[in-house]
Amino acid sequence: MSTHGLVVDRGLEGVVVGHTQLSNVEGQIGRLTYRGYDIDELAPEATFEEVVHLLLYGRLPDRHELDVLKRELGARRSLPEPLVNAMQSVPETAWPMDVLRTVVSGLALFSPVNAHGEHLSDVHTAIELIAKVPTIVAAWDRIRRGLAPIEPRSDLSQAGNFLYMRSGKLPSDVEEDALDTYFVLLADHSYNASTFAARVTASTRADAYAAVTSALATLQGDLHGGAANASYRTLTEVGSPANAEPYVRAVLARGDRIMGMGHREYKVRDPRARHLEAMAKRLAEHLGDPHNYEVARAVEDASRKVLQEKKPDNTIYANVDFYTAAVLADLGIPGDEFTPLFACGRIAGWTAHVLEQLADNRLIRPQATYEGPPPGPYIPIERRSSNGVHA
Ligand code: ACO
Repeated sequence: MSTHGLVVDRGLEGVVVGHTQLSNVEGQIGRLTYRGYDIDELAPEATFEEVVHLLLYGRLPDRHELDVLKRELGARRSLPEPLVNAMQSVPETAWPMDVLRTVVSGLALFSPVNAHGEHLSDVHTAIELIAKVPTIVAAWDRIRRGLAPIEPRSDLSQAGNFLYMRSGKLPSDVEEDALDTYFVLLADHSYNASTFAARVTASTRADAYAAVTSALATLQGDLHGGAANASYRTLTEVGSPANAEPYVRAVLARGDRIMGMGHREYKVRDPRARHLEAMAKRLAEHLGDPHNYEVARAVEDASRKVLQEKKPDNTIYANVDFYTAAVLADLGIPGDEFTPLFACGRIAGWTAHVLEQLADNRLIRPQATYEGPPPGPYIPIERRSSNGVHA
């Protein structure tokens, strides 16, 4: 759109606003790479910790480097006690995403400051945030159920430790692997809305805690990280595969969207959806309960069929959030914790982007075209009238 000679791109679609070496989204061919490594290889082969190293340090770790990173993650998982105490006094109805955003912001209160009163925003701050975000999510999960939080274990993986902190039991290999793969797939996605928010905040020279708090606030909405929970509501409302098509027809007939479908960048099926679908199937077999997987499959098939009937060349396919719903539900995680779980993976990318922004910073400050009234004189209050006719 062009206004007053300036080109306005609503939603910044197609606008290039910066550089990154962290990840590349090739939406026309459905390829996602982290520093040149295809997620098709990383998802089955690499652990989340290897991907964290890749994003933060620029290369996949050797065995020693991986051990060092795992030790640091393990050592930084515990939360400051006052923050756990504060969570204990939050109403149990509080939404997990609100709790996560608030407590992450609170971490800054306990972080050391330099001589100017500023927090450090270095690779160790990044590792601390990556380590602590799952602890916050698991602690609130237990506190709101009236249970005492479980101290993190330093000898477990990020995924294994998260599942352990929720239940107090060690997960099976299939469960740990499913969550680990989910974290790998979610780790980064170029300048998506929440990452862009983190970079805007970091560009003002605010610290990493502030930048990640911005990212968490931006992740919340159902056009972004909130879609997996909305997609899970779809699975529960549909109830059985036979209901999928009438449900999809009804949603589209009233002008609504199928949650977990469509993407600004991908014009083919999101490559992450393929891995998550396979993981949902594997988990279903492991649990001996294919319900969530089969309903999700039926909703995707019905959506494609009905969307194509409406517009044969439509490009609305399953995105990352679609099969996330089946995977996380089968791991026993309630729907309102799906967005916080997204954050447990994306925190790797957010912090890496903050460091990348700070390493070559320029304030991010776009323009807008002004469409309000033309310049006019100030009207003293005694002469003002709400009908616009002033004395
Ligand atoms: N169901 C039905 N129709 C859809 C869907 C959908 N899920 N997504 C887009 N469309 C339609 C829109 O109605 C619109 O149709 P129109 O041209 O006839 O008006 C057209 O496709 C383009 O829609 P936009 O919103 O302009 O496309 P955009 O590229 O901005 O949309 C978005 C991307 C916001 C993700 C959209 O596909 C959507 O709302 N999806 C559902 C929510 C969702 O799954 N979000 C998670 C995205 S992945 C992530 O952030 C992790």
